[in-house]
Amino acid sequence: MNVTASASDTTLDKNLYLPRMATILAVEEMTAREKFFRVELSQPLGHRPGQFVMLSRLGIGEAPISVSCGPRDDTILEMVVRNAGSLTQVFHGLQPGQKVGVRGPFGSGFDLADLYDKDIVFIAGGLGLAPLRSLIQPVLAQPDRFGTVTIISGCRTPAEELYRADLQSWSHKVKVIRLVDKTANLPWDGQVGLVTAPIAQLDLDPGRTVVALCGPPVMYKFVLMELDARRIPHSQIFVDLERRMKCGVGKCGHCQINHVYCCQEGPVYRFDHIEHLPEALQ
Ligand SMILES: Cc1cc2nc3c(=O)[nH]c(=O)nc-3n(C[C@H](O)[C@H](O)[C@H](O)COP(=O)(O)OP(=O)(O)OC[C@H]3O[C@@H](n4cnc5c(N)ncnc54)[C@H](O)[C@@H]3O)c2cc1C
Ligand code: FES
Repeated sequence: MNVTASASDTTLDKNLYLPRMATILAVEEMTAREKFFRVELSQPLGHRPGQFVMLSRLGIGEAPISVSCGPRDDTILEMVVRNAGSLTQVFHGLQPGQKVGVRGPFGSGFDLADLYDKDIVFIAGGLGLAPLRSLIQPVLAQPDRFGTVTIISGCRTPAEELYRADLQSWSHKVKVIRLVDKTANLPWDGQVGLVTAPIAQLDLDPGRTVVALCGPPVMYKFVLMELDARRIPHSQIFVDLERRMKCGVGKCGHCQINHVYCCQEGPVYRFDHIEHLPEALQ
C-alpha cells in the first residue's frame, strides 16, 4: 500500500500517518458557522488544488478539511472550517498562536493541465467554494493559459456567503455570478435563485468547456442535468465529492463509494469515471 501523498516530493512528510504540528496565524469569522484559518507549517504542503488534509487537535481528534488556497511555495495553509460537531467546535475555539496537527495532503485533486486552453466554469454551492478556491486562485494567476472563466457561487442567504471579498475581487477579472436562495430581508447585490439557474444563459462551447463542481450532494443531480442540456461531455466535468473519512490513506474503508476509495482516488473525480457507480451521487 502506498502511503505517500500523490502530490509531489515537497509533500509535508513521507509518513502520512504522522501529524506535523502547525501554528495558527489567523482565525477569521466568515459566517455564523464558518471560520477561516491560516496556519504556518514547518515546510510547504506541496498540494494540488482540490486535495485535503487531516486537521487535528492532539488528544481530541482529527477531521478531513479541504485545502482552500492554491499551490504555493511558502509554508502557509488556508482552510475554512464549519462548526458541524464536537471536533470542529473545538477548532472554532482556537486562537492565533495555538497548535494544530496536519497530515497530508491527501486525495487526487485537480490537474491544472486538464484545464489548459479550456473555458472553465466553476460551480460552487455553500462550503464548496472553499476547495474550489484552491483551483480558482492558480487559474486566475495565469490568465494566458486558460480560456474564459466563469464562477457561479451560491449559498442560502447573504449572511452565509463565503469569501465575499475574493468573489468581488475576482469579478474585476472574470465573470462572477453570486446567488442566494433567498435574501432573508438582508441587503444583497447578487442574484436570487439556485446555482442551476444561470447555466442555461451561459455562452458555452461544449467542445472547449470544462466544469469544476463542488457543493452539497443535493446540488449535483440538478447541475448535471443542466450541463447535459448544454451538451457538456461528462469527460469535461470534474466533481468534488465528500465522504466520511478516517485514515485518509486507503486503509479503513470509511470513504468507499462502491469499490472506490474516495480518500485516494477522490475527492475530485472526472464525472465519466464515476457516473456508473450507484453510490456516487447519493
Ligand atoms: C474530503 C473532505 C473535505 C472536507 N472539507 C471540509 C472543509 O473544507 N471544511 C469543513 O468545515 N468541513 C469539511 N469536511 C467535513 C468535515 O470533515 C466534517 O464536518 C467534520 O469531520 C465533522 O467533525 P465533527 O467531529 O465536528 O462533527 P461530528 O459531531 O462528528 O459530526 C457532525 C457532522 O459532520 C459529518 N462528519 C463527521 N465526521 C465526518 C468525516 N470524517 N468526514 C466527513 N463528514 C463527517 C457528520 O455526517 C455530521 O453531519 C470535509 C470532509 C471531507 C470528507
Ligand atoms: S478514509 Fe480510510 S480508506 Fe479512505
